[in-house]
Amino acid sequence: MGNKIIFATSNEGKMKEIRMILADLGLEIQSMKEAGLCADIVEDGATFEENACIKASTIQKLSGEIVLADDSGLEVDYLGGAPGIYSARYMGEDTSYEIKNQAIMDKLAGVKDTERGARFVCAIAAAFPDGEVLTAYGAVEGQISRKSAGEGGFGYDPIFYLPERGLTTAELSPEEKNEISHRGKALRAMKEKLRKKLGDMG
Ligand code: IMP
Repeated sequence: MGNKIIFATSNEGKMKEIRMILADLGLEIQSMKEAGLCADIVEDGATFEENACIKASTIQKLSGEIVLADDSGLEVDYLGGAPGIYSARYMGEDTSYEIKNQAIMDKLAGVKDTERGARFVCAIAAAFPDGEVLTAYGAVEGQISRKSAGEGGFGYDPIFYLPERGLTTAELSPEEKNEISHRGKALRAMKEKLRKKLGDMG
């Protein structure tokens, strides 16, 4: 068994979070760049889970190593779950989040609190050299806020309101966000599955 895992992302912020959470597995965790890999993967799955599996399996076959990949996004109940798996591409990949976030708030103008439910979701897949693919899922529930707030995080964080804390996820510290986030939850669930699988592999 190799003592290396590749995480199929070029996002350094995600790599930092992943290294923190998986540190005690005692494995070397490499980004695509560190592994010397480059791939343009078509994410044409119908679900977060399918997209994560496509990414992990494609890079696993390219590298021969154990590969993790994630796919995440925002589901807004009032918009029938949109933008969902299209979160990054919503209104165009190059459109700023200031514009995307304002557009979502505009669509929900006049909608009462009880109908403003939303969640961030994250699926993580791990593809192994023996062909097995494991998956884990995490979600965090919140509401679409009425105004944008906070400078932290990225993407839709300034409009993702946590009613029990009275803050958006853009107003949390990175540590606080990791603790409650969809990606943090999915990664911690995956860590347990990895521990078991790696133990079985000897
Ligand atoms: P991907 O998983 O890197 O493809 O991310 C999908 C998209 O979902 C991102 O580009 C963001 O628009 C959105 N997203 C995922 N996680 C978060 C988050 O933690 N905060 C804000 N937006 C997020």
